[in-house]
Amino acid sequence: MNSKLPMTDVLIIGAGLAGMSAALSLPPQLRVTLLSKSRFEECASAWAQGGIAAVLDAGDSVAKHVQDTLIAGAGLCDEAAVRQILEQAPAAMAWLQGHGVPFSCNADGSLHLTREGGHGQRRIAHAADRTGHAVHTALLQACQSRSNLTLLENTAALALLQDAGGPCTGACTGAWLRMADGSEQQLQARHTILATGGMGQIYPYTTNPGTATGDGLAMAWRAGCRLQDLEFMQFHPTALQINGKAAGLVSEALRGEGALLKLPNGERFMLRHDERAELAPRDIVARAIWAEMAEHGLAYVHLDISHQSRSWLEQHFPGVMALCAAHGIDIASQPIPVAPCAHYACGGIQADVDGRTEVPQLYAIGEVARTGLHGANRLASNSLLECVVMGRAAAQHIAGQPLDSSYKLHSNYRNPDNGFSGKSSSNIEQELRQLMLTHVGIVRSNQGLARAAEQLALWRAQLQDIDAALRNQLDVCTLMVHAALQRQQSVGAHCNSDYPTREMLAA
Ligand code: FAD
Ligand code: SIN
Repeated sequence: MNSKLPMTDVLIIGAGLAGMSAALSLPPQLRVTLLSKSRFEECASAWAQGGIAAVLDAGDSVAKHVQDTLIAGAGLCDEAAVRQILEQAPAAMAWLQGHGVPFSCNADGSLHLTREGGHGQRRIAHAADRTGHAVHTALLQACQSRSNLTLLENTAALALLQDAGGPCTGACTGAWLRMADGSEQQLQARHTILATGGMGQIYPYTTNPGTATGDGLAMAWRAGCRLQDLEFMQFHPTALQINGKAAGLVSEALRGEGALLKLPNGERFMLRHDERAELAPRDIVARAIWAEMAEHGLAYVHLDISHQSRSWLEQHFPGVMALCAAHGIDIASQPIPVAPCAHYACGGIQADVDGRTEVPQLYAIGEVARTGLHGANRLASNSLLECVVMGRAAAQHIAGQPLDSSYKLHSNYRNPDNGFSGKSSSNIEQELRQLMLTHVGIVRSNQGLARAAEQLALWRAQLQDIDAALRNQLDVCTLMVHAALQRQQSVGAHCNSDYPTREMLAA
């Protein structure tokens, strides 16, 4: 049954850290609806481990954080956006602490700061290795206590509504939803915020939750937004490998605390690839592991933190310890089998730091957005930070807009998408993921990318009556492959063997 829900002032599609930061920062007189496609806990934000990058130490400076971010981004960051976002980090941390997030502290009560790849110093605030859980729990409780917020779980946006006539033609006026009971309804909104997270699920092996299928990117693209930097899919170097599959993330903070990458014979190899060794930026470490695995015919390499005592590990990495223990690995005495897997979309919907997109009344914040902070490769722990900064900034921007009570929405459902009820797609989904891993993985080639583009075009032509989830994935994969074909160089997370770098020629 298709019907209309009562109009809302602000519709936020996505209840991860970006969406909740916006929801909690909007003025209480605005009616806000916050959607989660699945259960609230099923989002990357709740799963985050390492922490949040922020300049909080007297020996550190925003200039140094900016410099590390620009270096990791391989020269393709937007420096003004980098500076704007990173300058807000201490305020973002204070805001999270104000919401009662229990960050790990030193004996003197100051925040304990850890380190990750690409950071010149300790600047990662964290809650042991379950930072995402701590942040998500605190903010969800705060959202649940706000009377102006309507929280809807298991409710998916299928397409954006756009004004189809008059001076506001094209402006976003809400979204078409599939409700928890399976019905489809229109929800009109004065402002719509996309906070749908990433798209790791387009690969067979990913650290991302099942919700990360690129819905926001596809919906925004169909509504007329520009997507940028999609070729820069970041692979996390160290996902736990069990029976040839990724079984969860092993935080980069382990390397920050001295864990070493080794071949199964115990030989350390990172120094052969980069003088920063285990703490080189993520794209470099992931490629080095991939190259060692290929050279030695390995399914994984080892990450060894057994130099730390058991009690220290229990205090700092209880989550990774429990994850590994569930698979029979005692990290205090044994190395951890790890390999790279799909982790983070550095590109996304073109947006400014306030989240404004090219479509009027449509904002994009968090991982779904492309602000220029990450360039060709995101610096570790800059993502949670970007979610909070953009969420707060988008809310402030919306709060500054006049609330015209005579405002009329002339909505028309411009894009007659199918719901999630089209043809069963699990076979194609698996083939699609395999195609992306084979041809659009850590190292690509022109020939492989062309093959992927051909197969995707075939599927898009053949598969008309498909569900929205698969169509979104086909759209974002196609856009990513075309972006990769257009980028005729190897830079950051986009590595094409037809354009070898000095690093590749030396290997
Ligand atoms: P998410 O937190 O993923 O939330 C997306 C929301 O959108 C969900 O509520 C989802 O249900 C909803 N949604 C999606 N599609 C739809 C739809 N069609 N309709 C309705 N709702 C929809 N970054 C760091 O900075 N530090 C870390 O330590 C860190 N650790 C990480 C560990 C893991 C395992 C992973 C996967 C990522 C990690 N990252 C880390 C990256 C970071 O967690 C994410 O980039 C960030 O949390 C994204 O937040 P978000 O709010 O944009 O999206
Ligand atoms: C991690 O803990 O390794 C993830 C950090 C990140 O993705 O920024």
